[in-house]
Amino acid sequence: MNVLITGVTGLLGRALSETAPDKYNTYNIFLNEQNKKFSKSKYNVCMDVRKPEQINNVFKLSYPDWIIHTAGITNVDSVEKNPKNSYEINVKGTKNILEECKKYNTKIIYLSSNAVFDGKNPPYKEEDEVNPVNQYGMQKVECENIIKKSKSDYVIIRPILMYGWNESFERLNPVTWQIQRLMQSEQIRMVDDIYTQPLYSVACAEAIWKIIELNQSGTFHIAGKDVVTRYDFALKIAEIFGLNKSLIVPVKSAFFKSIAPRPENTSYVTKKIQRELKITPVGIEEGLTSMKKYKF
Ligand SMILES: NC(=O)c1ccc[n+]([C@@H]2O[C@H](COP(=O)([O-])OP(=O)(O)OC[C@H]3O[C@@H](n4cnc5c(N)ncnc54)[C@H](OP(=O)(O)O)[C@@H]3O)[C@@H](O)[C@H]2O)c1
Repeated sequence: MNVLITGVTGLLGRALSETAPDKYNTYNIFLNEQNKKFSKSKYNVCMDVRKPEQINNVFKLSYPDWIIHTAGITNVDSVEKNPKNSYEINVKGTKNILEECKKYNTKIIYLSSNAVFDGKNPPYKEEDEVNPVNQYGMQKVECENIIKKSKSDYVIIRPILMYGWNESFERLNPVTWQIQRLMQSEQIRMVDDIYTQPLYSVACAEAIWKIIELNQSGTFHIAGKDVVTRYDFALKIAEIFGLNKSLIVPVKSAFFKSIAPRPENTSYVTKKIQRELKITPVGIEEGLTSMKKYKF
C-alpha cells in the first residue's frame, strides 16, 4: 500500500514518518527541497499544497491508497493575523489535495483540531456541535465540511495540544520550548485557567497507523489521558526532565495580549478511540517519560 504524508518537517509528520510500518511504501512530502536530506524514508518528494500541478505530479508518481494530510499553517496567532495567506494553504491547499484524491480514489486522513470547539461545554464527543472562536478553528471547520461533502471516503482527526521531539530547524512545541527556556534559566509564565489534554505526537501517529490498518472512516478525537492546565503541564515537564520548577510562574490567560482568542477547555471524551482502535490514551507522566527515553 502506498501512503503519502504531507508536512513531514512538522511535529506530527515527523512522528508519522518515524513510526511508519515497514509494510507500507510511505512517501515523505516536503515543502522545501533542502529538508529532504534529513529524511530516513526511501521515497521523498516535494510539493506546495497551493500548487495543483505539483500535487498532481506526486499522485502520478505514487498512486497513493492513502494520504495523511498534516501540512498547514498551525500557529493560531499567525492565522488570526494573516487569515488570507493561511486560507490559501489551509483551506485551498486541502481542496487541491481532495481533487487529486477523487481522481486516484485515495482515502484522505485530514488533521483538524480541538479548535473547532468553543470550549464552553467539555468534554466533547466527535458528534458534538462545532463553534470555533478564532480564524484557525474556522478554517479547520471549513475543511472538515468540504471533506464531508466531497463524497470521498475520509478520516478526520482532531488532535489536541501535541508534544514531542523536533529537529533543530523545525518549530518548537510546548515541551521542547520549555526545556530550552528552563535550561537557559529563563523564567516562564504559564496560564492556569486554560485546560488541555496533552498528546504525545508518537501516540497520535500510532493511532493514525491503526486507523489505516483497520481501514476506519469518520471522525476521531485523539488526546492524552490527563486534563490539566498549561501550568500543571509545565510543572510535570520540569519534574520529568529534571528542570527548575521555581522558574515557572502561574498567570491568568488575560495576562497575555495574544491576538487570537483561545477556548477555555476543549477536552475530549476518548471512548471512540478506546472502543474502535483499542487504544488506551497515554497520560502526561507516561508520555513525557517515553519522550525523555526516546530521541529520533
Ligand atoms: N501541534 C498541535 O498541538 C496540534 C493540535 C491540534 C491540531 N493540529 C493539527 O495537526 C496537524 C499537524 O500539526 P503539527 O504541529 O505537526 O504542524 P507543524 O509542526 O506546524 O508543521 C506544519 C507542516 O506543514 C508544512 N507546510 C506549511 N506550508 C506548506 C505548504 N504550502 N505546502 C506544503 N507543506 C506546507 C511545513 O513545512 P515547513 O516546515 O517546510 O514549513 C510543516 O512540515 C496540523 O494540521 C495542525 O493544525 C496540531
